[in-house]
Amino acid sequence: MVEDLWIFGYGSLIWKPDIPFDERRVVRTRGWARRFWQGSHDHRGVPDAPGRVVTLIADARAICDGVAFRVPAVEVESVLGGLDHREKNGYARHTLALEPEGGEPFEGLVYIATPDNEAYLGDASAEAIARQIYESRGPSGPNIEYLLNLAAALRDIGAHDPHVFELETLVRTMTR
Ligand code: BEZ
Repeated sequence: MVEDLWIFGYGSLIWKPDIPFDERRVVRTRGWARRFWQGSHDHRGVPDAPGRVVTLIADARAICDGVAFRVPAVEVESVLGGLDHREKNGYARHTLALEPEGGEPFEGLVYIATPDNEAYLGDASAEAIARQIYESRGPSGPNIEYLLNLAAALRDIGAHDPHVFELETLVRTMTR
């Protein structure tokens, strides 16, 4: 029997869930760092000029704050089908332990783009990543919009993410 499913959002799902859910909880997961290391040629860039979106990178000392959504059982199949399609550019499903503040940990499904996928870009200097984000645009809109919305949404949930906030500061100072 299909049961309700918790889905962990650490990127666009935080500010644009676009999925039906019965409950939303601010949570964190340990051992993973949010990084703008995944290339996007179908949402925030194009094949010749990919943008950058977030993925999770294994890092024993890291904490990643985000939002978990409880999807009702009756919606699980269509939600996963929709997310599989939306995140077809290199992401795969994983299960992680999620910790709500002051509550019991629980498991949630998360989409992670691992370094073995074709669209993976990996690390670069903060300035180079910010410049790529500043200059990229794809079918879902400007890459900078993704970064600024994510930074604002993280601030709203009280999350501190030096990587995201540094990129936000850098793109705000850029001009073409
Ligand atoms: C998210 O958490 O918003 C997300 C990130 C990567 C793939 C799918 C969703």
